[in-house]
Amino acid sequence: MPEYGEGSASYGAAGGLSGLQQLVKDFYDVMCNNPAYAVIRDMHPKDLTVSEDKLVCFLSGWLGGERLFAKKFGSISIPQVHAHLVIQEKERDMWLDCMQEALEKQPYSDGFKVYLLTQLKVPAERIRMACERRL
Ligand code: HEM
Repeated sequence: MPEYGEGSASYGAAGGLSGLQQLVKDFYDVMCNNPAYAVIRDMHPKDLTVSEDKLVCFLSGWLGGERLFAKKFGSISIPQVHAHLVIQEKERDMWLDCMQEALEKQPYSDGFKVYLLTQLKVPAERIRMACERRL
């Protein structure tokens, strides 16, 4: 796949901060509006404002943009912040399905959509594996 992993190429392809805000808004809208995703929606607080902001900030740094999560909230370990949740294959796939549906709504190239989803499978699977070790 092309050079999305280099420098801030992915951040640019995602439309910068406003692109990520739209992606994450659509992601949580998908999660909230489809009862098929109720299991993971209900893991979140009722008010999603902070969850949305944190995901935007994380993705910004993760994709090579400004490290907003570190700046606003400090350091983060993705498996650790999910350690209070039971996330098995079903929940992992729901999260990824919400992201895929949200990606489909974005004006990104097909190549970048595939790239981003493929990349997101890595931390999603790490979360699942960490959960499996605890159960
Ligand atoms: C594998 C499926 C996943 C599920 C079911 C899930 C679910 C959740 C839930 C319920 C919260 C809110 C926790 C709370 O407020 O108590 C959360 C927070 C968060 N998630 Fe996930 N998540 C998943 C995957 C991911 C992935 C792959 C990423 C990053 C690429 C991610 C990034 C975050 C971040 C940055 C937060 C905020 C953490 C904080 O409170 O500091 N999540 N997630």
